Amino acid sequence: MASLASSLSCTVSRLNLFAELSLNYHSIRIYRTLSSNLRPMKSLYHHRSFNSPFSSYTCKSTISNCSKTLGSNTVFYDNLVVLGIETSCDDTAAAVVRSNGEILSQVVSSQADLLAKYGGVAPKMAEEAHSQVIDQVVQDALDKANLTESDLSAVAVTIGPGLSLCLRVGVQKARKIAAIHQLPIVGVHHMEAHALVARLCERDLQFPFMALLISGGHNLIVLARDLGDYLQLGTTIDDAIGEAYDKSAKWLGLDLRRSGGAAIEELALRGDAQSVKFSVPMKQHKDCNFSYAGLKTQLRLAIESKNIDGRVPFSSASVEEQGIRADIAASFQRVAVLHLEEKCERAIQWALEIEPSIKHLVVAGGVASNQYVRSRLQEVVGRNSLQLVCPPPSLCTDNGVMIAWTGIENFRMGRFDPPPPAIEPEDSQLDLRPRWPLGEEYGRGRSVARSMRTARIHPSLTSLTQHQRQ
Ligand code: KG4
Ligand code: ZN
Repeated sequence: MASLASSLSCTVSRLNLFAELSLNYHSIRIYRTLSSNLRPMKSLYHHRSFNSPFSSYTCKSTISNCSKTLGSNTVFYDNLVVLGIETSCDDTAAAVVRSNGEILSQVVSSQADLLAKYGGVAPKMAEEAHSQVIDQVVQDALDKANLTESDLSAVAVTIGPGLSLCLRVGVQKARKIAAIHQLPIVGVHHMEAHALVARLCERDLQFPFMALLISGGHNLIVLARDLGDYLQLGTTIDDAIGEAYDKSAKWLGLDLRRSGGAAIEELALRGDAQSVKFSVPMKQHKDCNFSYAGLKTQLRLAIESKNIDGRVPFSSASVEEQGIRADIAASFQRVAVLHLEEKCERAIQWALEIEPSIKHLVVAGGVASNQYVRSRLQEVVGRNSLQLVCPPPSLCTDNGVMIAWTGIENFRMGRFDPPPPAIEPEDSQLDLRPRWPLGEEYGRGRSVARSMRTARIHPSLTSLTQHQRQ
């Protein structure tokens, strides 16, 4: 198991951020006193089209009652300790985070060897790899935090989007812990977690803000209006930028045991970014959508035209060929990021028209750990008098901290489910949301190309939040 276990101690106080929500703060001890009063409601985590075993309750109203009766128990105030579990793709991750923003532990087990072997994520293999390490990863996270399950206030887990076989492993583990220790459980949207972890790192980051979320499977630009409320300004009509990085790395014969993106970033430093003339995608589309499939094709053709055989590892190529590969990597990266820059520039204009008070652009997701991406987007943001917020690289790539933190943010709003039953049938149908949009599409940003190929399986997080509010 390739285990990267890094304990970060980030002690950003967030009490001021949520002053208006303070009535909803409570510890599990309070939760337990309330649990008999929990009432069913239209929940974010339960949709009629799903026969979910996640019962749907809120204790919002009871919390205010209780904060009166338990008013002297301020010892519980903002003292949540949440375990976050992430298994949506190829990383098995867990972390323990306090509601004051302190990261007590962070553990990630990556499937880098499998990625290198198969050149991509094979769902069945990935599921097996998650199953093999999940217990150990969670135990390591608890040990590093010096806690046991019974010290936790809640368990947060990614329920989508992602590979359902993989999501299942994390959800089953979370439900098992929650059932045994009678803990509430928060189902988390993976992309919301990528965006919200920025609020753990940057205490001035208030809603509304913009977020560019760039990962292996997603390329999203959203206006984050509130928790659970996102307006999608643009998305990819085909591939995400991370997928293009990963394929470039594979075709250039790079070592995939760490991420393809990181390998391209490093190689690009040695190349001439102007040497190969790739064209920037979607120049003629005056919207904020992205496309990386065409750039991948351009790249493949460039590699073929230079007679490069990606099956020959980079280290075995001649010095001259290594130089050519570096030139291709640098040229690819320049154009891939130029595409981000152009679309971000337009999205900022749109977002400021909708919401002139916006001050920040969050850039998160695995590709946001790239220094070239950060520096180019810093320029875009600077030109538009906004501030760039990028979480540290370890919080950009998939991690448990972002899940725990998003669990905390939702828990404070009363958005969680009660502990699962102690005995759950093996074959119970879990609420997994492999295709789960984050927000509703902004009318101006709708792409015909995309809407024709999109078969939505689950209503967006934002529509569920609005439904819950009604
Ligand atoms: O968010 P993430 O960890 O997983 C998904 O949700 O997909 O993102 C993974 C993606 C991969 O495509 C990986 O190649 C890319 O992030 N990535 C990078 C870098 N580090 C990871 N891309 C470019 N430069 C990097 N340094
Ligand atoms: Zn991700």
